[in-house]
Amino acid sequence: MAQNKAYSTFEDAHFSGSGICADCHDGLSTSTGEDISIAKAWSNSMMGNATVDPYWQAKVAAELDRNPALSDEINHTCSRCHAPMANDAAQKNGDPVQILGSGGFLDPANAYHAHAKEGVSCTLCHQIADDGNLGTLEGVSGKWTVETYSNLVDRPGYGQYADPSTNAMRMRDNFTPRLGTHTTSSEMCATCHDLKTPFVDANGQPASDSPESEFPEQMVYSEWAHSAYADGGSKAQRCQDCHMPVVNEAVEIATRGTQGRTRNDFRRHSFYGANTVMQQILLDNSLAPTADNLAQAIQENRAFLQQSAELRILNAEIRDGTLSADVLILNRTGHKLPSGYPSRRVWVEFIVEDDNGEVLFHSGALNEDGSIVGVDLDQDNSTYEPHYDTITAADQVQVYEPIMGNTDGAVTHTLLRAARYLKDNRLLPIGFDKRTAPADVAVHGAAANDDNFVGGSDELRYEVPVGKAKTYRVTARLRYQTLSFGHIQDLLADDHLSEVATFKAFFEQAAIRAETLAEDRRAALPWHPPAAAEKALSQ
Ligand code: HEC
Ligand code: HEC
Ligand code: HEC
Ligand code: HEC
Ligand code: HEC
Repeated sequence: MAQNKAYSTFEDAHFSGSGICADCHDGLSTSTGEDISIAKAWSNSMMGNATVDPYWQAKVAAELDRNPALSDEINHTCSRCHAPMANDAAQKNGDPVQILGSGGFLDPANAYHAHAKEGVSCTLCHQIADDGNLGTLEGVSGKWTVETYSNLVDRPGYGQYADPSTNAMRMRDNFTPRLGTHTTSSEMCATCHDLKTPFVDANGQPASDSPESEFPEQMVYSEWAHSAYADGGSKAQRCQDCHMPVVNEAVEIATRGTQGRTRNDFRRHSFYGANTVMQQILLDNSLAPTADNLAQAIQENRAFLQQSAELRILNAEIRDGTLSADVLILNRTGHKLPSGYPSRRVWVEFIVEDDNGEVLFHSGALNEDGSIVGVDLDQDNSTYEPHYDTITAADQVQVYEPIMGNTDGAVTHTLLRAARYLKDNRLLPIGFDKRTAPADVAVHGAAANDDNFVGGSDELRYEVPVGKAKTYRVTARLRYQTLSFGHIQDLLADDHLSEVATFKAFFEQAAIRAETLAEDRRAALPWHPPAAAEKALSQ
């Protein structure tokens, strides 16, 4: 099996490049010919591209520029999850942890440049130890442990299988495949997918005084843990079950050294996610030389996104000159929708047309630049759209999103200024009880008191004046944007920084602005009083 030349093949005392592993873990396929090569699949994922990601680089530059006194902290924190092998190897060797500029990880002259460019890679995930802290406050926010071994060959390649054949891997790359049941748990993902960050006040002085009081910037694992998908829950499914779908047949997991043994429960390393916008930016600007097939990964992620939600127009009728419709939105993911990084937002687009296709009402229309018509945040990023239960005007838009507030209670888009949420009406997963939710994953704003904003769903009413009764067509769509236009303006304003200017150019030319998660259409008919309706039926 010819190896993709772009894969990194560095080897040091702590980590190795994916190219070393691709030697035996690429070139795999199922009996029907599906390519299940591990490095290939991973190479297209956002985790494989976590450091080449130009948005991440720009945000690091801006946070450093705005909080110069915290530069050591920022360099350490931002590389801990996005360039974890570089961060860990540099620390173990007593070398400086610096991301940008000359001598930083992104500088090809840096000794850890190859480590950094691999993002979240094979030898990082597969060496994370079961140190007793996984899934706890001591183990989240990137506080994973990779042990240091005096004998290279003792370095583990933890996986889900008991009794692996060890010789081939030990001889080729000095890692020993080994059972580590923690790799199959959500707690392993939690180490990077629950993130609490310290914050500062307007004078740049630290304002959070303990890990507990830090700002819950990303709480995917805790959201999951409070839902029916948690271990033991009525819909129990772990992160891996949805994001690394299992192959339903026994396969050989390596091209060499397996001694012909096949294994069940092989998991695809596609790490399906939401960020098609960034994958398209990586593709269009050739920023991910290792990626095997980003175009296909975008297609697959789009299909994945279409399983993440359902939307139903429950009824639509015209009465006394007003068209009213109830829309039900269902979250089918294992956490909030959207979840993860605070630039993610989901919104409802609602359109009323007459028989000639003329649009009478349109809430949530998307502009070409990525802004949404009527959304306050996109006009002035110190404001935002409230959570609605009833929408009566086109400039009211239901946006499911987190809005961060600083220590003075004003909207902020700076990670290190974020002290609390002013709004968090992201759709809750099934089984999530907002009344008993831990503070870190609580609902904030009007959604907290909206009776039909509950675990798994929200119901939303539209009331649109249409005048004389005739038939109209109603369309409702649930849409998703990973790079919220309003949120990102704050970063783009710092375009005196070269990383920001570079990202700004990519963003302005981005070919994808949003994805559609779900859609429903329906005719809205004039309402008849019950008696008349009965008479009509009996005729
Ligand atoms: C505990 C791990 C962790 C730490 C520490 C961390 N991040 Fe992230 N970051 C993530 C994860 C996980 C995501 C992806 C979440 C998602 O897809 O919604 C992410 C996403 C992002 C994104 C969005 C990327 C995109 O393409 O949409 C940016 C920007 C970002 N992080 C910046 C930073 C900065 C700046 C720092 C340092 C202040 C930082 N991160 C520290 C885990 C971390
Ligand atoms: C020379 C071939 C070869 C190379 C190179 C190789 N592996 Fe393996 N790997 C294997 C074989 C063989 C097995 C065990 C197969 C079995 O028992 O079914 C295995 C198993 C694994 C397992 C499963 C362990 C378990 O017990 O569940 C992991 C994880 C793994 N390898 C990771 C890696 C990583 C990371 C690299 C790169 C540093 C790598 N491998 C490089 C051949 C290789
Ligand atoms: C984000 C973490 C992560 C990264 C990065 C990652 N893996 Fe894995 N890998 C896992 C997890 C988790 C499992 C086991 C899933 C389960 O059984 O629940 C796994 C399973 C495996 C297995 C067993 C066969 C299978 O696919 O189920 C092999 C072999 C393996 N990984 C090799 C690799 C190689 C090679 C790379 C780099 C190209 C890599 N992994 C990158 C998390 C990761
Ligand atoms: C070492 C830290 C780390 C670990 C461990 C980790 N992740 Fe990630 N993950 C990240 C970072 C960083 C990103 C964001 C990369 C970016 O967008 O720049 C990310 C992004 C993602 C995304 C979003 C992709 C998208 O396109 O929206 C998914 C899904 C994901 N990870 C799943 C998992 C799963 C499942 C596990 C456990 C098997 C896991 N991760 C373990 C750091 C990690
Ligand atoms: C029931 C299936 C399911 C489970 C379980 C699940 N996810 Fe997801 N996840 C999805 C779907 C579908 C999406 C795409 C829609 C979205 O972005 O929320 C997604 C999106 C994500 C994203 C991108 C978030 C964003 O909105 O940008 C991250 C990161 C992620 N998941 C991590 C995890 C982690 C970590 C776990 C375990 C704690 C997990 N997921 C459990 C289905 C699931």
